[in-house]
Amino acid sequence: MTNRSRWGTRTSVSRRSVLLGAGVVGAFLAVDLGALAYANKWVGPGMTPATFLTGFRTVYGRQPGFRKNHAKGVVVTGHFDSNGHGQELSRAAVFRPGRVPVTGRFSLAGGDAHMADTPGAARGLGLAFGFPDSWQWRTAMLNLPVFVDNSPQGFYDRLLASKIVPGTGRPDPAAMKAFLAAHPETAAAMALVKKQSPTAGFGDSTFRGLNAFYFVDESGARSAVRWTFLPQQGAPAVRAGDIDGLFDALVRQVRGGPLRWRMVVTVAAPGDPVHDATLPWPDDRRTVEVGELTLTGIETEEPGNARDINFDPLTLPDGIEASDDPLLSARSAVYAASYRQRTGEPKSPSAVQVQQVQP
Ligand code: HEM
Repeated sequence: MTNRSRWGTRTSVSRRSVLLGAGVVGAFLAVDLGALAYANKWVGPGMTPATFLTGFRTVYGRQPGFRKNHAKGVVVTGHFDSNGHGQELSRAAVFRPGRVPVTGRFSLAGGDAHMADTPGAARGLGLAFGFPDSWQWRTAMLNLPVFVDNSPQGFYDRLLASKIVPGTGRPDPAAMKAFLAAHPETAAAMALVKKQSPTAGFGDSTFRGLNAFYFVDESGARSAVRWTFLPQQGAPAVRAGDIDGLFDALVRQVRGGPLRWRMVVTVAAPGDPVHDATLPWPDDRRTVEVGELTLTGIETEEPGNARDINFDPLTLPDGIEASDDPLLSARSAVYAASYRQRTGEPKSPSAVQVQQVQP
């Protein structure tokens, strides 16, 4: 994707520019353009990233300038304090004791950049850790216990089946029924998702990476892992009648003080599935708490912040490696295509305008 060193992805932008924020776009763009190498590859039988972009457009219409999925969002900034315990599993610099800067984005699943917030929409959190001039780690997580697809084809078929039928406000029940009959893994995963009621807001959501990765330690030993960010606070209730209610509540909460999540790494036991994000691992697996994320700033999407970052799950530092879960390479390719399309389109204001949120 880019030229990699012992420390991971390199660009020519200084660490200071990242901390100042002004250089973030330049820094991340340099990396994201490198991701275009993925843009034309096959991501499933007969499917390229362009197939997915056409699918998003069929379902959500044109959304110029916005992400083709998770289109509605808000940018956050903060830091990650590593307690050093992660070094037992990974030599990644992010797990050495100390603090690194983080830029991120909260989002709702779906390609409508002006959708009304609903409690049931999957909530996303993308995070970029570290320094574009030395190493970076990016992850995009959801508030779900498992992902609902285990293949790019499943994701694509579900996307098309979920298209709202005009005048009804709902997908075609027959299309969804046929999809679920053809994808029993999604039916099973959706049943697990339904068991957990959504929490009040973004601030009290548990975010999970869901795909398995390998952590690689100093000796080269590899452990299959999944990661979870556990909220350390509650969340205020959404105000009735506010179509941006979840985001507005988050803006007020961050204004009131830092929000924190503890990062916990779950280690697979031999035989646990590492290629299928619809399958949970048993609850008794070993966990290691590796540090704490603190978010202190919240901003409207705009040039110079995480609006222009591609939270590609394969932007990994030395010490973290992809598993052979087929979703990972598909995500990387489709995110790059979405990124390339949206950065070439005219921009219009995001739905979530932080300055306009009333106290
Ligand atoms: C084949 C499966 C998937 C496809 C095709 C897909 C597609 C996409 C696309 C096109 C974007 C917008 C990228 C951009 O313009 O920057 C996106 C964003 C996102 N996806 Fe996925 N996705 C998939 C699976 C997943 C999974 C498994 C997760 C969680 C574990 C996830 C979480 C997210 C999040 C949180 C964002 C928003 C990140 C941001 O704020 O930029 N996605 N996805």
